[in-house]
Amino acid sequence: MTRLFLFSVVVAGVFFGSSVVYGKVYTKCGLTNELIKLNFPRTFIGNWVCLIESESGKNTSRLTNRANGRQGVGLFQIRSKDWCKFGTKGGICNVRCEDMMDENIKDDGACAEKIKNELGFLAWNGWKRSCKGRNLPLPPC
Ligand SMILES: *[C@@H]1O[C@H](CO)[C@@H](O)[C@H](O)[C@H]1NC(C)=O
Repeated sequence: MTRLFLFSVVVAGVFFGSSVVYGKVYTKCGLTNELIKLNFPRTFIGNWVCLIESESGKNTSRLTNRANGRQGVGLFQIRSKDWCKFGTKGGICNVRCEDMMDENIKDDGACAEKIKNELGFLAWNGWKRSCKGRNLPLPPC
């Protein structure tokens, strides 16, 4: 009985531990529906989904090292230093970079909208590379 209990605790620990470390990888429709729920304008969701596929592979915990010691964090690969700060709230979005890598993408979405409003989709190399000039309607889900 005790052993079984301990075993269950260990299994649960591994399960929850890995979900914290690896975050969440969205399906295309899962992502589309989440962006609709977060009130992203429908006309742009096709572009956001393309951008996110290109930038992070739809992985909420993606962390990429870039030039000048900067990093791209999370689903939208928001750039540290400019837009967020590690350890404490900061950057133009006034958020912690760590919070851009968890499974709650509401704050990420708000920061990404801010980036788009200031610089447009051109702020993302992944968008320029994979999405620019394409007709990208709302994915049929
Ligand atoms: C998601 O990103 C994290 C951090 O870069 C990585 O460790 C993990 O393997 C990725 N998950 C998938 C399914 O690619």
